[in-house]
Amino acid sequence: MLKQEPEDGQASLADPNFRADVLAGLAATPRAIPARWFYDRRGSELFEAITALPEYYPTRTEAALLESIGPELGALAARNAAVVEFGSGSSAKTPILLRAIRPAAYVPIDISGDFLRQSARALSADFPSLPVYPVEADFLRPLPLPGEVASLPKLGFFPGSTVGNMNAYHAVDLLRAMREWLGEGARLLIGMDRVKSPDVLIPAYDDAQGVTAAFNLNLLERINRELSGTIPVAAFRHRAIWNADAARIEMHLEAQGDVEFTVDGRPFAMMAADTIHTENSHKYGPNGARMLLRAGGWTPVREWSDPQDWFALILCEAKPLRRAP
Ligand code: AVI
Repeated sequence: MLKQEPEDGQASLADPNFRADVLAGLAATPRAIPARWFYDRRGSELFEAITALPEYYPTRTEAALLESIGPELGALAARNAAVVEFGSGSSAKTPILLRAIRPAAYVPIDISGDFLRQSARALSADFPSLPVYPVEADFLRPLPLPGEVASLPKLGFFPGSTVGNMNAYHAVDLLRAMREWLGEGARLLIGMDRVKSPDVLIPAYDDAQGVTAAFNLNLLERINRELSGTIPVAAFRHRAIWNADAARIEMHLEAQGDVEFTVDGRPFAMMAADTIHTENSHKYGPNGARMLLRAGGWTPVREWSDPQDWFALILCEAKPLRRAP
């Protein structure tokens, strides 16, 4: 997942991209702010808490699946592979993969240097003989990988169904950028959440303890803190909606009455029941998942899912691109 550096200061110190996204998003119809801005320090802590909730099945389902396919993955993976993890954050799944395939090197890529260094240190303590080469970068803009892994076979790792937070257009851009990073012949192990009953999906994004609500509402707190906002946070409520046509959970912040506020000195007004759209979490059936991967330049070669078929891990390969036939 993309994580942002913590910000605790006045509007003048705020990330100019955050300011631009919020001001444009609040002025747009419909109102929408990109989900990447959830992840200040508090937001990242709340997300960690979400992953442990009884209703939030993706993290534990994917971890158990990864554990169960470990021996098969170990047999499939190239000897002396370099594992390249995209948006490594504080992923707890990495050690499961590393134990299964015993790679020659590990390259975590994350936009947040803080998280990257922290998780690289923790990992090195658990795998003292594994060379770790952290790369602080936005993985939408390919850079050369560290020279030390240039000649090793690459296995990309993109767990957590983070790809679901993008619409298909941007997901394809991202998958193609990953192909550029890793090169032809590389493999990618990607986690994708399956379409399932709204009876399971809605509670996963609107839990009984209100942790997901706090995660969503923290975006408004962040705007107030970093962009000198005057948003009456208590006048908003968290909504999680299943959009069946688009096969996605949408998170919104809904005004419970008419509200007026300013952000960075600019006035905004919302009427009761108006919302700010804050996140999409797309879910994929088997065909949709494979089609998305192929559109991004990745050929699925092996696929696993849990016994309830709630979550899939797909191993794909960057085969040489050819024009039909
Ligand atoms: C990071 N991402 C995959 C999570 C998801 O399930 O879409 C973010 C999240 N939002 C609410 N709960 C979890």
